[in-house]
Amino acid sequence: MDELTEKMPRLSNLLRREAVPVDQLVANAIRSRGVNNIVAGLERSLKGLGDIALDILSGLAVGRHVMIMGPVGVGKTTLAEEVASLLDISSPPYMEVACHSHMTAAELTGDIDIAVALQAGLDHPLAFIPGPLVMAHGGILILDEINRLNPYSQAALLQALQEHFVFIRGFRIRSDFLVIATSNPSEYSGVYELSEALADRMKVVNINYPDKDVLRAILNWKANAMLEHLGVKVPDFAVEVVANFMTQISQDGLVDIGPSVRSSIYAISGALSRAWIEGRDISLADLKKEVVSNVAHVIRGNFSNDEEKVNYLLRKFDDAAALSRRKH
Ligand SMILES: Nc1ncnc2c1ncn2[C@@H]1O[C@H](COP(=O)(O)OP(=O)(O)OP(=O)(O)O)[C@@H](O)[C@H]1O
Ligand SMILES: [Mg+2]
Repeated sequence: MDELTEKMPRLSNLLRREAVPVDQLVANAIRSRGVNNIVAGLERSLKGLGDIALDILSGLAVGRHVMIMGPVGVGKTTLAEEVASLLDISSPPYMEVACHSHMTAAELTGDIDIAVALQAGLDHPLAFIPGPLVMAHGGILILDEINRLNPYSQAALLQALQEHFVFIRGFRIRSDFLVIATSNPSEYSGVYELSEALADRMKVVNINYPDKDVLRAILNWKANAMLEHLGVKVPDFAVEVVANFMTQISQDGLVDIGPSVRSSIYAISGALSRAWIEGRDISLADLKKEVVSNVAHVIRGNFSNDEEKVNYLLRKFDDAAALSRRKH
């Protein structure tokens, strides 16, 4: 038997599992690391989300599952992963599932491989391949984009959350874990309504689009990091114009789904990389082209067609550039 197979849990061991007080592990981790250190650790990858992290930690510390809700590209997944890594209550520090609409309940729970079970017996390490709901025992399970799960998979998850047991073809396996889920609001495409029973078991924590000062700081930091190996630095005017543009659009009543922080970072670094390839300085026109093309496919709103949307973005970019010029 190879090394990996040796490490697979046997069904008989899984059936003998003891309960693990995960809330206690979280509380101990917060006590021993110190909440200020945890927040400082988080600031190394995300800006302006310390308060939201405290909301997540306070939920987990009393055994509540948490759902981070917010628009596209504002740091939900990174936040879930960072919080779990900083807590570090198990090894590895978390299990993660990228949820999607075709995910089956068996993909979450794991299943018995009948062919192996028949040949080698039910207790062969490969007779039962455990899914993430079983593997997450004693730790944190990140369910990324939980509201993409179809109702059947949601039901399997609900059972595990509610009873702390996962049922696999009649076998009852203990599994204690705390969930940090991420989700987009229901106006986004490809999402299911989360069942009330499931939603009711989660503490909802909202992330909003960052305000202009925080956005400026994020853009400066992340776009410069992407360009560092090219030896290119982001000029202040680029950050200023993009921060103005993004903030105005995210607050505009015409727009239902605003731009993402991610698209803002990509727009700046994309424009500068293009200028670098051509061996010249970046112009406002480069920035405009890159910003509009990056943002056009993310935002949604009251536009009758794509052309109208692009024209709106071009106009808004000119307004933001004029506003930045007035300030300087
Ligand atoms: N507050 C922030 N501070 C620093 N970087 C940020 C912040 N918000 C987003 N980012 C950056 O934007 C990118 C997107 O982050 P992430 O994937 O975590 O967002 P998300 O909300 O999960 O997006 P999606 O809705 O598309 O899944 C990452 O590169 C992240 O570093
Ligand atoms: Mg995400």
